[in-house]
Amino acid sequence: MGSWEKETEYLSDYIGSGKVLEVCCAAGLKSVILAKKHKVIAIDINEDRLSAAKDNALLFKVNKNVEFKKIDAENFNELKRLGSFDAIYVDVDWRENLCHPIKKQNIDPFKTCPRTDKLYLNLRKLHPKIPIIFKISPFVRIKDLTKLGPCVFEELYIDEKFLSYNVYFDPKIKKSRWQAIHLFNKEIV
Ligand SMILES: C[S@@+](CC[C@H](N)C(=O)[O-])C[C@H]1O[C@@H](n2cnc3c(N)ncnc32)[C@H](O)[C@@H]1O
Repeated sequence: MGSWEKETEYLSDYIGSGKVLEVCCAAGLKSVILAKKHKVIAIDINEDRLSAAKDNALLFKVNKNVEFKKIDAENFNELKRLGSFDAIYVDVDWRENLCHPIKKQNIDPFKTCPRTDKLYLNLRKLHPKIPIIFKISPFVRIKDLTKLGPCVFEELYIDEKFLSYNVYFDPKIKKSRWQAIHLFNKEIV
């Protein structure tokens, strides 16, 4: 099992049941795992990636549970037309501009594509009561995210290797806090 499968199964269990909006799904690696348990609407701005995502959904035999749409996640009206959800998962591109080389990530968590702060505020306006979960690169100034409201910062380890952060925004969270989660692909003897 790849680490992306493990982390997505964990996320899927956290969400529980219901319909999920996945923002910035790329080639749908996480969408196909989420779609095993959830109805998923997965959006991205890149047509080639969406086309690969549709192939992946067929390969994983979850195409009935996931719908891929080309949407600019910075466009409030397009987000509004997607309807209602029980949870939202977001994995933005960590470059300030999509024309920048793939390795040119910056450390400001808001200078991303789409912009994390603008996206969060729009999503929260449309969906005031549900969890919004961001996957956050290990390289960014993660504490800046408290500017958006109280959240849970989760350090995610797979086979004891630090992978990335999940940051949970939920109206039930009143005070920011940290936690660590350890998942294992390998059997520990
Ligand atoms: C880090 S990748 C997502 C990886 C994916 N979640 C996965 O696990 O395979 C970031 C994605 O954000 C998409 N993206 C960038 N700007 C966007 C925008 N304004 N609206 C929607 N998607 C956008 C890119 O096309 C890219 O596929």
